Amino acid sequence: MMMMLNLLFQLYSPLLISIFITCAAAVDTITLNQIIKDNGDTIVSPAGNFKLGFFSPGSSKNRYVGIWYDKISTLTVVWVANREAPLNDTTGELSVSRGGLQLRNGNNTVMWSTNSSGSFSLVAQLLDTGNLVLRDRGILIWQSFDHPGDTLLPGMRIGIVSGKDIHLTSWKSVNDPSAGPYALRVDPNGYPQLFMTEDAISSARFGPWNGVRLNGMPNLGANSEQFVFIDKERYYEFNLVNNSLVSRLYLTPEGNIQHLRWINRTRNWDVFSTATSDNCAHYSFCGAYGVCSISNVPACKCLEGFEPRRPDDWNLADWSSGCQRKKPLACEHDDIFSSVEKVKLPNTNQSWYNQSMTLVECEAACRRNCSCNAYANSDISNGGSGCLLWFDDLTDIREDDETQPLYIRMPFSNLTSHTTRDHDSKNKKQTITIVVSISLGSILVCLLILAAWRKKRRSKKKIPGSVAAPDKIHTNESGNEDTELSSYSLTIIAKSTNNFSPDNKLGEGGFGPVYKGVLEDGREIAVKRLSETSTQGLDEFKNEVKFIAKLQHRNLVKLLGYCIQGNERMLIYEYMANKSLDSFIFDASRSSILDWPHRFHIIHGIARGLLYLHHDSRLKIIHRDLKASNILLDKYLNPKISDFGLARRFTGQENEANTNKVVGTYGYIPPEYALHGIFSVKSDVYSFGVLVLEIVSGKKNRGFSQDEHNYTLIGHAWRLYKEGKSLELMSSSLEASCVESQVLRLIHIGLLCVQHHAEDRPTMSSVFMMLGNENALPPPKEPAFFVEEEMPQLRSVSSVPTLDSVDEITITLLQAR
Ligand SMILES: *[C@@H]1O[C@H](CO)[C@@H](O)[C@H](O)[C@H]1NC(C)=O
Ligand SMILES: *[C@@H]1O[C@H](CO)[C@@H](O)[C@H](O)[C@H]1NC(C)=O
Ligand SMILES: *[C@@H]1O[C@H](CO)[C@@H](O)[C@H](O)[C@H]1NC(C)=O
Ligand SMILES: *[C@@H]1O[C@H](CO)[C@@H](O)[C@H](O)[C@H]1NC(C)=O
Ligand SMILES: *[C@@H]1O[C@H](CO)[C@@H](O)[C@H](O)[C@H]1NC(C)=O
Ligand SMILES: *[C@@H]1O[C@H](CO)[C@@H](O)[C@H](O)[C@H]1NC(C)=O
Ligand SMILES: *[C@@H]1O[C@H](CO)[C@@H](O)[C@H](O)[C@H]1NC(C)=O
Ligand SMILES: *[C@@H]1O[C@H](CO)[C@@H](O)[C@H](O)[C@H]1NC(C)=O
Ligand SMILES: *[C@@H]1O[C@H](CO)[C@@H](O)[C@H](O)[C@H]1NC(C)=O
Repeated sequence: MMMMLNLLFQLYSPLLISIFITCAAAVDTITLNQIIKDNGDTIVSPAGNFKLGFFSPGSSKNRYVGIWYDKISTLTVVWVANREAPLNDTTGELSVSRGGLQLRNGNNTVMWSTNSSGSFSLVAQLLDTGNLVLRDRGILIWQSFDHPGDTLLPGMRIGIVSGKDIHLTSWKSVNDPSAGPYALRVDPNGYPQLFMTEDAISSARFGPWNGVRLNGMPNLGANSEQFVFIDKERYYEFNLVNNSLVSRLYLTPEGNIQHLRWINRTRNWDVFSTATSDNCAHYSFCGAYGVCSISNVPACKCLEGFEPRRPDDWNLADWSSGCQRKKPLACEHDDIFSSVEKVKLPNTNQSWYNQSMTLVECEAACRRNCSCNAYANSDISNGGSGCLLWFDDLTDIREDDETQPLYIRMPFSNLTSHTTRDHDSKNKKQTITIVVSISLGSILVCLLILAAWRKKRRSKKKIPGSVAAPDKIHTNESGNEDTELSSYSLTIIAKSTNNFSPDNKLGEGGFGPVYKGVLEDGREIAVKRLSETSTQGLDEFKNEVKFIAKLQHRNLVKLLGYCIQGNERMLIYEYMANKSLDSFIFDASRSSILDWPHRFHIIHGIARGLLYLHHDSRLKIIHRDLKASNILLDKYLNPKISDFGLARRFTGQENEANTNKVVGTYGYIPPEYALHGIFSVKSDVYSFGVLVLEIVSGKKNRGFSQDEHNYTLIGHAWRLYKEGKSLELMSSSLEASCVESQVLRLIHIGLLCVQHHAEDRPTMSSVFMMLGNENALPPPKEPAFFVEEEMPQLRSVSSVPTLDSVDEITITLLQAR
């Protein structure tokens, strides 16, 4: 009604508009017998920050009453009244009666109510904080902040407030605001922490509170956080330091927690930080006394002085049973406390605390009680204060940037001599300080990890078979390796991909289209249908498959099986939920999902996968078509290289440095390969360098254009490097999350990889080391300013896309020499 008036006024006179605005500003309340109808009626908070009205989420047709930001162009709903009771038409009416705030449908049935009764002077008001309050004669009787949905706004509390458990619950999906499986709540036990639960079972832990922020969580940037715990009250909230910022904490339908900021310039929500998206975020992933590290393979190890409780399970990657002391505590006077740093503190659910004790008193308190396992400061501000004692097993520990030490009780007598006997530790240092470092790895660490991994792999070498696997390939090399691959029938594959329906097509790779399929047992697969030019013999194909199947690494996409029928040749891979890297980094809206830590993790993973192909797989594979669309991301955004081994298959078996066929993608192939057909591991290093620059800049090397210059991305990066302005290369979506020194280092490494002369480029093992330490890097020489025009006349092979459409497609070219 008001809206209509507004429109009419706007059509007539600017004077009237200004009058109307002063009127509209007053409409932030619903008084008795006033009705908000689903025909555009709304109320707006006094300063215009929030609006309340009817809306339909996502693609849903259902109508809900909700509150959203009014100054933000994208509809962002922060609260929903009738989330469990949608209206299916627009007959809904919201009104205040003596029974409180009520939503009725067209048949006058109450669909939702605040269940609060009051007098005739009940008034509902929408505040500028986004809080909808109901007052009776001025006294607050109900507020929406006590009934949150999936969004925590500044000033809102979650926790135990006046005896009530106030928590966030996720939406079922973006189209359905009813309560999904995830909740974020404060644990009422022990020292304050937040837990995420999935179907009421703890799935991730945030904290403990360390006086400044939640231990192990990124801080909230320009916001201030606090955890209040006095008597029975204990709640968490955050507040804006600068009121011109718009920010919120959001529990996504997928169970991620995002801290988002509105960036007015880009008109986008920027994911400032995100939690719970990697393996180590899973609650107690490594069991008691286990430490989780996303940069290690395997991810779990025991704290020093501890060993797997069930070694057999542990070696089979079932870490849930955790670790135990190698030498039981006898509770002697000479017990020592070894300090562990760079870890997230263990679960404090059962711990005891005293906020006025010092660290010295804390140690004494722990020493006094034989069941005390560890201690730490409870507050890190002002150099540390307070005391936190753990009496139960230490669980849910992960490597982290936290500098706060945790002191773990250890028997003094022969900690070190035990360590030397340990089969998995080569550390003979006479030290009692256990430092779990997250440093990405000296060579030694890498080699150890690889050795351990290989060992594990040997003991447990079996690719999950398929339900329909009449025919199996066994590879038996050096006697102790046995790979079992499944052969699938065309019928099964056709059925799983809906008969290769275009809807199931995931993309077009260099060697043919890729389809998504779902097997009868529910497993998701990706089917690569190889486009053959020459019909290869059956045995030859099987040999190739065996060869590819031998390549197994956590940063390579796993081959599950194959399908041969008639002329059809297909490879069956595991399905990657997050598709390919290019769908993130080159996409304006999705690029913010990959913040800097994720990108760093991805680059590191690609390097590790490539290192494996080049050096560790014993087979020395040159990928030859490394590019953003060949890097797939699993559901935790771990990178996996795809299409490896195929280049070799398609160009014959030659290992020599010259070939008649050039396989690759414009923008990623080095000059010596494009021009002379010479390839080596350094060709992949070049492609890796391009990829690094693309990941950092969010721009494609090919098709890159900068107004004044006709440079490629590489040329642009080189120019900025020369001018000492490398940081300008970085994608603006990384501004909030980047670590300057890492960005500069990666650009530098990228430039080293794309140097013009192959012999100047580092090997992948050098690159991997450069990524893992902070030693000075050699200055890069000029890169290859390779542009397509330099390419000689190229003839495309039949069945291969023509040059017009090759932007993202692999080209197979006959080399003209
Ligand atoms: C709308 O929902 C009501 C119950 O809430 C139901 O009786 C009615 O049939 C629905 N109408 C339509 C068109 O689905
Ligand atoms: C109202 O009631 C009528 C008759 O019972 C029914 O047909 C209609 O779908 C109802 N509408 C709503 C919105 O519930
Ligand atoms: C109001 O009470 C009804 C019935 O007890 C209940 O189903 C509903 O969830 C309550 N609404 C609110 C907002 O608490
Ligand atoms: C608050 O932020 C705005 C915009 O980011 C800035 O212009 C202003 O100076 C800030 N105010 C304070 C007190 O920091
Ligand atoms: C955001 O930008 C729009 C125009 O682009 C401007 O009208 C509005 O005042 C800006 N908001 C803030 C909070 O800076
Ligand atoms: C926390 O402790 C309580 C009892 O002390 C227990 O019931 C609950 O399961 C614990 N939760 C977690 C996540 O450890
Ligand atoms: C906490 O420690 C202080 C200093 O040691 C002591 O005075 C106080 O009684 C302790 N409080 C509790 C509840 O133990
Ligand atoms: C040690 O601490 C536990 C847990 O707080 C307590 O139950 C026990 O009584 C304490 N033992 C001694 C000797 O103080
Ligand atoms: C280590 O501990 C064992 C058993 O407690 C003891 O017999 C042995 O002498 C100790 N060795 C050293 C070097 O302390």
